[in-house]
Amino acid sequence: MSAPPATAPRTPRHVAIIMDGNGRWAARRRRPRMIGHRAGARAVNLCIDFCLERGIGALTLFAFSSENWGRPADEVGALMKLFLNALDREVVELHRRGVRVRFIGDRSRFDAGIIARMDAAEGLTSGNTGLALSIAASYGGRQDIATAARALAVEVAAGRLRPEDIDEAALAGRVALADLPPPDLFIRTGGDLRISNFLLWQLAYTELWFTETLWPDLDAGVLQQALDDFASRERRFGLTGEQVASASATDTMAP
Ligand code: FPP
Repeated sequence: MSAPPATAPRTPRHVAIIMDGNGRWAARRRRPRMIGHRAGARAVNLCIDFCLERGIGALTLFAFSSENWGRPADEVGALMKLFLNALDREVVELHRRGVRVRFIGDRSRFDAGIIARMDAAEGLTSGNTGLALSIAASYGGRQDIATAARALAVEVAAGRLRPEDIDEAALAGRVALADLPPPDLFIRTGGDLRISNFLLWQLAYTELWFTETLWPDLDAGVLQQALDDFASRERRFGLTGEQVASASATDTMAP
């Protein structure tokens, strides 16, 4: 068993978001889905601003799942163009604001122009300490765990690791975002009550929060509601309420 986890900080250190509802937002306006994705890109900026203002250390956004490649080709193509333009437009400003940008997922499936911009964005911002912004793109939680398992198998085959040394910590060190605290708070917009193959390993003890608000309608009020709800939760990590209360009083469960 790993060491007892931390009691909940009142402000999440790491927020992970499924940005859902762009298509429905557009449909309600009788506009093409892509208009919803463009409005969604504006909401991404709002969300980053909010995290910077509140001193949230890490934000992980699900931009494109490994399953989203199966959407109609024109939507995938238009989304790729949107990502490319966003990278060209936003990265320098994110850097100026101290944001460290990284991408998680199978980047080999993107075309060379996007991969080059992803690499450049990561390189430019790698020394920043303001907000760790991770964009999950061509990402799937099962794929993440499978990749980590394969990395362990390679180390065993090379004689660098014994099978009996494979434990939770070994796997945790090889999934995406291993250097960050796991998400404290998960938010999904758009009303569906699912995790949809996002960060399956990392969300084990994350507090889940769902809203009917469609992603392009996101505002600071919605994000504040999520933070307020989070602050009211008792996180027990499998322990009893009494144990958590006494650990909080003596501060013995600090990370
Ligand atoms: C889900 O809504 C959204 C996506 C698959 C794309 C997310 C993209 C953005 C928020 C825009 C740009 C992002 C970045 C990082 C620049 P949906 O299309 O499934 O909506 P629906 O459920 O209403 O159909």
